[in-house]
Amino acid sequence: TWQLGDFAQAAIEHVRELVGDRRVICGLSGGVDSSVVAALLYKAIGPQLSCILIDNGLLRKDEQALVIREFGDHFKTDLHVVDAEERFMSTLEGISEPQEKRRRIGYAFIDCFKEEATKIKDAHFLAQGTLYPDVIESGADPDGPAATIKLHHNVGGLPEELGFELIEPLRDLFKDEVRRLGLELGLPESLVWRHPFPGPGLAVRCLGEVTREKLKVLREADSIVVEEIVNAGLYRETSQSFAVLLPVQSVGVMGDARTYDNAIAIRSVKTDDFMTADWSHLPYDLLARMSTRIINEVAGINRVCYDISSKPPATIEWE
Ligand code: XMP
Repeated sequence: TWQLGDFAQAAIEHVRELVGDRRVICGLSGGVDSSVVAALLYKAIGPQLSCILIDNGLLRKDEQALVIREFGDHFKTDLHVVDAEERFMSTLEGISEPQEKRRRIGYAFIDCFKEEATKIKDAHFLAQGTLYPDVIESGADPDGPAATIKLHHNVGGLPEELGFELIEPLRDLFKDEVRRLGLELGLPESLVWRHPFPGPGLAVRCLGEVTREKLKVLREADSIVVEEIVNAGLYRETSQSFAVLLPVQSVGVMGDARTYDNAIAIRSVKTDDFMTADWSHLPYDLLARMSTRIINEVAGINRVCYDISSKPPATIEWE
C-alpha cells in the first residue's frame, strides 16, 4: 500500500487539527496548486471536503474529464462540476480588449462559484492554493507595475463575502515543495509537473474576440503542441509550451485549392520565476512535426509561426 512521506503526514495532521469536524469547499482548476490542496484535504478530512470545478468553456482539450477522473473517480470526492460555458461565452461576446476579457471572466467566475458554493450547506472553510511567493507578492504594492500589467484573475474578497473562513494549507511552501507534496499524496507525475495555465484560460490565447469555433481550433492545435513536446521528452525542460490562435488570415494552397485561413503561433518558454523568460530553442525537427501536424489535422489553419521573443520585452502570454 501507499506509504505517505513525512512531509505529507505533517501537512495532513495540521489540516485535521485546524478543520476539526467542519466542511471545506475547494475550487479545482486542473492546475497543480488546487489539485494538491484538494488531495491534501481529501486525505485529511475525506467526506468533509466538497470540490467545485467551474468549466468556463476555456479549458484545454479533455481537461474537464481529467479532473473528474482524478478527483471524482480516483479520490471519490464530493465533486460539483458546473458547466458554465454559455455564461462565459455570452459575457465575452463582442469583446476583444485583453484586460476587459480578463475582467469579465473574473466576474463570471465569481458569480458561478458563489452560486454553487451557496448550494453546499454547512460549509465553513474555503480552501485556496496560495503559495509562499504569492504571500510575499501580495505584501508588495498592490498598484505596482506587476499588478497592473495584466489583471490576474483570482477570488480575492470572495471568502469573506460568502462568510467563509479562508484556509491556505500551502501558504508556507514553494512550488517545488508543492510538487513533492503532491507526489507524496499520490497525485500522478503528469499532473504534478503540469505547466501553469492562466485563470482566464484559452481566452487569452485566442487573440481578439473569443468564439466557440476559434476555441475549438485553438484547443486542437494546442493539444498537438503539448503532445509533440511530451513525445520529444522536452515537457519538463520547458516551463510553458502552448499554441496561440492569431486573428490573422493568410493565403495558402492545399491540393489545387487556394486557402485563406488563420495562423497559429507556437509559444514555448523556459523560466525560473515567470518574471523573465527565454524562448525555448526547440529542435527544428520537432517544430517541423508540430507544424505539419497542425496544418494537416486542424481545419482552419494553413500557417504556423514560432514565437522567438523573450520576456521582457514580450510577455509569455500574447494578451
Ligand atoms: P505573462 O504573460 O505576464 O505571464 O508573462 C506570466 C505568467 O502568468 C500567467 N498568467 C496568468 N495567470 N491569470 C493567471 O492566473 C492571468 O490572467 C494570467 N496572465 C498570465 C502566464 O501563463 C505565465 O505563467
